[in-house]
Amino acid sequence: MKPHDGPVSDLWHFARPELAEGYLNAFDLKLSSARGFFAPRRMGKTEFLLQDLLPAAQKRGYIVAYTNLWDNRASPEAALVAALFDALGLRSAQALSARPDRPAQRGNADAKTPGTLEAKVATCDGKEPTLQEAIRKLDEQRKTFLLVIDEAQVLARTAHSDFVHALRAALDIRKARVKVIFTGSSGTALRAMFARPSEPFYHWAALEPLPPLGGGFVDFTVKLMNSMARKPMTAKQGRRAFTELNDTPEFFRRFIERYMLHQVLGPDSALRYTKASVFSDEHLHEAWSDMNPADQAVLTLIARGDSDLHSANALGRISASLEKTATKSTVAHALRRLQAGNVVTRVSFGEYRIEEEAFADWIRQRTAGIR
Ligand SMILES: Nc1ncnc2c1ncn2[C@@H]1O[C@H](COP(=O)(O)OP(=O)(O)O)[C@@H](O)[C@H]1O
Ligand SMILES: [Mg+2]
Repeated sequence: MKPHDGPVSDLWHFARPELAEGYLNAFDLKLSSARGFFAPRRMGKTEFLLQDLLPAAQKRGYIVAYTNLWDNRASPEAALVAALFDALGLRSAQALSARPDRPAQRGNADAKTPGTLEAKVATCDGKEPTLQEAIRKLDEQRKTFLLVIDEAQVLARTAHSDFVHALRAALDIRKARVKVIFTGSSGTALRAMFARPSEPFYHWAALEPLPPLGGGFVDFTVKLMNSMARKPMTAKQGRRAFTELNDTPEFFRRFIERYMLHQVLGPDSALRYTKASVFSDEHLHEAWSDMNPADQAVLTLIARGDSDLHSANALGRISASLEKTATKSTVAHALRRLQAGNVVTRVSFGEYRIEEEAFADWIRQRTAGIR
């Protein structure tokens, strides 16, 4: 499997070639060698990388490697090294398959998505390969290399600090030939990696939001659906649904699917159904009950807009709901867990936001006694 195969040419994919070309032009003009972009979950980062950016880079002759660290939180090093090997191995696999007398060796052919690749590649002695070995292999070829690290904020954890320092050092001296793109769901977590002088990636990549999908995406999807539907939907109905689904492409696709299956019921019914399922009580309730009580207490304060989570007042309220004394470290631990789980994002120093607006709403209603 090629690293950027992704879902097999998705008919419903709204392509953004200019955006992809823009990033690649900046690399080719040597304006930058690393970029970081962020957008909330379900907004289309991974799809853009796999279906727009990587194929465009490949067309320009780049060797491309992709890894999604969220799927490999426990061992980002293994995931990244596997992605590098996979990308480099591809060339030899191609070379081999060009020779019919020798079977192609494709270690990861059965992996479902590139992001879930485990470090299955083994060196000759059967040990897991290291970053140094991957870099050595990389140095053996001359093409420009594009490394895409999806959900890179995982690297911000101190546990990975040694690896991240080694990675930065390795990439730094290869800037001319190795380009890197980082993405993350949390701008703040990424910023922590790139904007803090003590961090290895300090000032290494420009960070910017990934332009969101908007009206163009909605109109494209509605038009395509209308070409297959018996009962067309208007562009206006499509756009309204998109807005009501918090401008979230993933939810909009579910709405379209629902409409296709039950056209006679009309777009309003499809929208009601989609909202009920994506913002579903059951789903949110499950997420809530999986959390520990300290996390729930801290989340409740954030949902209500309490700005100082470490104040005596806040600690008093947390203690009351836990029925035992909460300290500043109770709060700090809860915040760390909530951020690691992508539930909460740090907006600025001491200021936090709940990632999913629907979840924040649900928590507010819950504490107001509605649920
Ligand atoms: N360019 C696009 N065209 C069509 N649908 C898209 C596009 N980008 C995202 N989507 C829809 O949104 C879903 C979530 O996108 P994804 O890339 O996984 O988000 P993220 O990586 O930001 O969490 C996709 O599975 C798809 O249904
Ligand atoms: Mg993603």
